[in-house]
Parts: sequence; structure tokens; C-alpha cells
Amino acid sequence: MNQQPSSSRPTRRLAADAAGIAEAAALLRAGGLVALPTETVYGLAADATSGAAVAGIYAAKERPSFNPLIAHLPDLASARRQGLFDAHALALAQAFWPGPLTLVVPAAPGCTVSDLARAGLATVALRVPAHPVAHAVLAAAGRPIAAPSANRSGRISATSAEDALADLGGRIDAVLDAGSTKVGVESTIVACLDGAPRLLRPGGVPREAIEHAIGRPLAIAGDAGHAPISPGLLASHYAPAARVRLDAEAPRDGEAWLGFGPDRQDHPQALNLSPSGDLREAAAHLFGYLRRLDASGPATIAVARIPEQGLGEAINDRLRRAAAPR
Ligand code: TXA
Ligand code: MG
Repeated sequence: MNQQPSSSRPTRRLAADAAGIAEAAALLRAGGLVALPTETVYGLAADATSGAAVAGIYAAKERPSFNPLIAHLPDLASARRQGLFDAHALALAQAFWPGPLTLVVPAAPGCTVSDLARAGLATVALRVPAHPVAHAVLAAAGRPIAAPSANRSGRISATSAEDALADLGGRIDAVLDAGSTKVGVESTIVACLDGAPRLLRPGGVPREAIEHAIGRPLAIAGDAGHAPISPGLLASHYAPAARVRLDAEAPRDGEAWLGFGPDRQDHPQALNLSPSGDLREAAAHLFGYLRRLDASGPATIAVARIPEQGLGEAINDRLRRAAAPR
């Protein structure tokens, strides 16, 4: 496969019907690259068991290769062939799969996820997505599928086929188009490695729901005694071209405005994540609205304050990364 990121190949747009799903699975089995819908964001998918196919992901995204990828599976039974689930991991999988939760567990002795997809780690990140189209492709592919978000490294995650094409068109084989994603932020990542489940990334399953399912508070990655174990969590990430100013009361002159809750709608470059203040709606709109505001070319996007509870934790995490110095 050609791994020159600048090289151009036609990217096909596949409908999310039986023929499109079969074609996507065939491309993946042959080592190709396909942008797939999941309930969180679009994923740039490749055969996780093939180092060459996974290398294609890194090349297309221009992603630093120390960053391990999530392996996607159609069900818990196939996930358990890849990783070792302790009691907490099993409880979480049973409570939230299929759904926007990724579990980092020790790799099973028979794990087929390639070293490259795992970035050489002895652990593996596993996820069973809730999207019916993703499920159908995973079942037809019959092997773990690696899929980081379908955007170029450092850019805003893609939540529609158009966004995926804008970043990756000409670099990948196909996009399977199933419209906009529902959840809008990536999966919550929890590591179950040493008896004390740890939150590595806030995401589509709120922390409170996870703590309820395991009956104890989640430890935070980076707490005393733990090396940072999620190397992909770079501070500057999800970056629009514009600078991002958080917790703003109102836009200043020349700033675009990303609002939340009841707020002035008369600004020329303004979008509102959720006029009613609904965090689910805000998460679903987050990346698409950031892309739209950024495309209008402002120097700065000012963002209203978002409450730090439920899905707000994941939304604020992504916004802080978008605002990080770079
Ligand atoms: O919702 C999602 O999770 C989306 C969709 C497409 O499934 N995928 C996604 O993948 O967000 P990505 O590659 O953008 O984020 C994967 C994160 C990275 O921060 C990476 O460092 C972490 O998972 N990760 C993967 N394997 C890991 C491991 N073995 N240990 C710790 N962190 C790991
Ligand atoms: Mg990403």
C-alpha cells in the first residue's frame, strides 16, 4: 500500500446500506483505509491485526506513531479474546457495551492486535461501538479494527462523512456515510489494570455513570504513583486554526462566538451548542460547530462557560485541548 500522505488516491463515498457495508468490510480485510461512522465520532478504520494496514492510518493522519489505537469489536465475546477482563472491566463492559466506553486492559496471550496498533504496550484498548453500521462492518470484517478519529492529527474530530472527507479525502479508500454522529465526543477511556479503575479520558459515558456501575470513585490517570499511561492525550489537540478563549461572558470585537444556554443570538459569527442548556445536545454539536466557526476565519473563537458535570467534563476536556498553547 502506498503510505505517502501527500499521494492522492480516489476516496469513494459508500452508502450505509448492505452493499456499502460489505464493500467497507472487504476493503478493510484487504488492508485498506475506510472512514466509518460510530455513535461518538467517525473513525479512520484499518485491520488492527496488520501492521501495514495500521501504518496506513498513521500516514493518512500524519499521527505521531507513539500513540496507540483503540481496537473495535462487534461484541464482548470477541473483545475477551483480545484482552484480560478483571471484575471491574467485566462489570463496565456489561453495563455500557455496546456504547461510548473504551477499556484499557492487559493484552490476552492470544491477542491479535498488532504491536504497531498497541504502540508496543502490553495493554490493549478495546471498544464495542453502539452504531448499527459500525457493528455490521465489524461483524463482517471478522477481526479487530483499529480506528482513531477520522481527522488529521491535531485537528478537530470528524462527526460527519463531509468532515472526514475534508481532512482525509484523497488519502483513504472510502468513507461510509451514515450522516452525523449522535454522541459527538469520543468514548470515555477507563484503564482496568491493577484493581483500581482509572479514568484516562472523559467522554461519551459520564464519569458518574461509571462510578455508579463499579460502586467506587474512579482514580484519575496521572495520580501519584502512576506514570501517564495514555500517551495519546497530548495537551494541544483538537485544534482549530483560530485561537480559542474559554469561559467567556460575551464575544469581543472580531471574535466568533460559541454559545451555550439562553444567550444573545444576534452576533454575526455565532453558533449555540444548545440554547436550552442540554449537555447531550452540546456534545453532539461540539466538533461540527467548532469546524464551522473556524471555517469563517476568525482570529479567535470565544466559548461560553460549560458546566463541569455529566458530559460537560468531556466537552470541557476537548475545549481545553483546543485552547491549549501550540
Ligand atoms: O470514540 C472513540 O473512542 C473514537 C471512535 C472512532 O471509536 N476513537 C478515538 O480514538 O477517539 P483515538 O485514537 O483518537 O483515541 C484513542 C486514545 C488515545 O488517547 C490513546 O492514547 C488511548 O486511546 N489509548 C489507546 N490504547 C491505549 C493503551 N493501551 N493504554 C493507554 N491509552 C491507550
Ligand atoms: Mg482523536
